[in-house]
Amino acid sequence: MRYITLEEALHFDQARVVANSKKYLNSHFPSYLALLGLDRNYPQAEGMYLWDGDGQRYLDFLGAFGALNLGHNPPQVIAAIEKIWQLKTTNMMQSGLSALAAGLGETLAAITPGELRHSFFASSGTEAVEGALKTARIASGKPVIISTSAAFHGKSLGALSASGRDKYKQPFQPLLPGFEQVPYGDAAVLEARFKSRDVGAFICECVQGEGGVNVPYAGYLTDVRNLCDRYGVLWIADEVQTGFGRTGKMFACEHENVSPDIMVLGKSIGGGVVPLAAFISTPQVWSKAYGSIERVSYHTTTFGGMATQCAASLAAVQCYIEQDLPRQAAEHGQYLLSRLKNLEQKHDFIKAVRGKGLLIGIEFKTPGGMLNKMAKLAEVAEDNIGAMVCGVLQKDYHIITAYTLHNPAVMRLEPPLIVERQQLDEVVRALDEIFSKHKNFASLSLKAAKTMISSKLNG
Ligand SMILES: Cc1ncc(COP(=O)(O)O)c(C=O)c1O
Repeated sequence: MRYITLEEALHFDQARVVANSKKYLNSHFPSYLALLGLDRNYPQAEGMYLWDGDGQRYLDFLGAFGALNLGHNPPQVIAAIEKIWQLKTTNMMQSGLSALAAGLGETLAAITPGELRHSFFASSGTEAVEGALKTARIASGKPVIISTSAAFHGKSLGALSASGRDKYKQPFQPLLPGFEQVPYGDAAVLEARFKSRDVGAFICECVQGEGGVNVPYAGYLTDVRNLCDRYGVLWIADEVQTGFGRTGKMFACEHENVSPDIMVLGKSIGGGVVPLAAFISTPQVWSKAYGSIERVSYHTTTFGGMATQCAASLAAVQCYIEQDLPRQAAEHGQYLLSRLKNLEQKHDFIKAVRGKGLLIGIEFKTPGGMLNKMAKLAEVAEDNIGAMVCGVLQKDYHIITAYTLHNPAVMRLEPPLIVERQQLDEVVRALDEIFSKHKNFASLSLKAAKTMISSKLNG
């Protein structure tokens, strides 16, 4: 029987990686990346940088969508996992207890705000969202879960039901019953909906990531907390992307000194090395949901809370605290935001710059009329405006970024929190040059079209 050894896979060249990805993985994904000139394989990474097969270095300002707050392969996290292997620590044993899971539970209870105390470990943010939704349903005993427009909570059926953007929902209808959406950042509409008393839970991000880096008005989270208290609704804060220092506080809800009934954690909880996520709830919610022997197995999973995951997470949290990364994110974020706001004044191409800490979005004006037709001709329709800028940044300046999933006109800057001032300057300089060179959407789509044609000619 034919199989590929680890050694062979490690030595695949770029062509083999592309060919295999097309044949054995998501076939059209490499072609989509090729359209934008992004179909590279990066065999090596460390800290703020990745290297492709030709040894070209790239500066990472995407940070795996918020999973790399410590950068690539952080030595402290790797050392923690190596220690687990050296000690031959039991990695998986579901019908028993785990010292490391117990330790991580205590850590999360200590660093999260308010009364949050009981954790459940999962392997992805989506899975943790599912657990949070189930927990809110059973604890509240009410059928309706409200979420917000343009929200992103993941793509499994429950998480998708709570998310925005029809493009990702429509093909999978019918989704789950009992889910409704209100506009993000609108407490009045939320209160009107709460009045019918059938709402069990409200789920929202404290700053929307994939929706286009949307920062709500100051006081929104306080309004949410007060409304949930007044109408007996459980508040689920999805901090999968905003958690662990990203927005300038350890958790984004701390900007308003409020805490949810259930918080969802993911991405950087695993230090960028292991797949780990969690939801954590107050004792009141936990006991309503799972407060008897009969109920202990209502929600379970095979991979949650493995020793390697917990060791990595304990080491990562120690780094966030000891290196004071939330404060660094606040300072660097403020600096980057102000420099980008200068670009906004200078370049007509930019519609808005916004963000909190090191979660920053640049929204571009979308083309109208003739320009839009040109873009469509070039197969780089309006939908890809943010991706086109990211493509130029990556190809010409070797800086990695991405657009936001639910608002493709927004390019996000989400570097590891270990980023340095001169790297922020490098990115601002590159963007300034790109915007000066491509004064409008037309020349950028022409450049993207050229990339597309050359990638087609090259197979
Ligand atoms: C706010 C939020 N919630 C949930 C998720 C889903 O997490 P995962 O991709 O780990 O399943 C994401 C992923 O981007 C996210 O940003």
